[in-house]
Amino acid sequence: MKILSIIGARPQFIKAAIVSSALIEQGIDEVLVNTGQHYDYNMSGQFLDNLNMKLPDYNLNVGSGTHGKMTAAVLVGCENIILKENPDYVIVYGDTNSTLAGALAAAKLKVPVAHIEAGIRMHPKTMPEEINRVIVDRISTKLFCPTKLSIDNLKLENIKEGVILAGDVMYDIFIKMQKEFDFEIKKQIKIKDKYILATLHRDYNVDDPAKLEKIFIQLNEIANSYSVVFPLHPRTMKMIKQYSLEKYLDKLVITEPLSYSSLMGLLLDCEFIITDSGGLQKESYFAEKRAIVVMPDTGWQELIDNNINLLADENNICDKVNGILTPATFTKYIYGKGNAAQIIASALKNA
Ligand code: UD1
Repeated sequence: MKILSIIGARPQFIKAAIVSSALIEQGIDEVLVNTGQHYDYNMSGQFLDNLNMKLPDYNLNVGSGTHGKMTAAVLVGCENIILKENPDYVIVYGDTNSTLAGALAAAKLKVPVAHIEAGIRMHPKTMPEEINRVIVDRISTKLFCPTKLSIDNLKLENIKEGVILAGDVMYDIFIKMQKEFDFEIKKQIKIKDKYILATLHRDYNVDDPAKLEKIFIQLNEIANSYSVVFPLHPRTMKMIKQYSLEKYLDKLVITEPLSYSSLMGLLLDCEFIITDSGGLQKESYFAEKRAIVVMPDTGWQELIDNNINLLADENNICDKVNGILTPATFTKYIYGKGNAAQIIASALKNA
């Protein structure tokens, strides 16, 4: 059996690392395609190195651009490769433009699509990732859901066939890599006291100058009580420069985008998290930390319902700090038992 997996943006390298190992265990041949949506070493290549992944068989090098340009370039590139490789299945991950374009290329060539992280839904419906998710689920043959809620979401859209509750592959890799988390990073970035970990990159938070400034004013306020470690996503850096907001970085501990093991090392020792990252808000739960999630809605509603994470907006992040400092009960196994990749690989093997 031959499977073609399409990755390209930072979180997809992490998810693919664990699924690739499970495919190998099942004796499945995998052709790995890197679209190049993310191209800075610290957004892409460092994950291949850090997670000991095999090198991609194809690199499309599409780079950045408008949604249409990027999606079109991945679509054309993946179509060529699928025609050449003739795989039995195409795997796509999550909700990025690479996910949408890869799934579309496969479905049009009548190659079945396996969507890992299917059934996640959230508002605003206009956010690019939501558009990508809805379309990819509609054209996928196997829909590997991370949670029960994601299955319910699909039912509401009348998608029932091929739906499998697998658990979340990010939990698998968190468990697998735990021994290799990098706790030296704290020394390298010279953190001694209590700190929080903050990340921001969503278009609706960082592309609007007024909103971005309000968020920074609050992070600066919090920096009076804690060190605020802020690994800077390239999109956010671009917007800070464009809107001349650099002065707000002075009170924060700025780092480049970090490797998986360094970010997880920082996560394990922090007081709490402020983020708009879909991945980090779950990883914080894996590490039994609480997160203020700067989003109007989240695909990981279980963490809100269990009073582990709190949603916030650009006006009330500081108001949420007291709430997030109270201890939470970390209900176990919300995202499966750490065997999602095995469930996925064996379901594909038997497909
Ligand atoms: C993308 C995904 C998002 C995911 C995120 C993880 C879409 C629509 N969104 O958002 O779901 O959570 O990746 O990081 O696919 N840039 C660089 N170097 C890079 C990559 C990007 O400088 O290696 C800059 C470019 O200016 C680019 C901007 O960041 O225009 C945004 O990149 P893009 O891939 O469009 O979206 P992300 O915000 O990274």
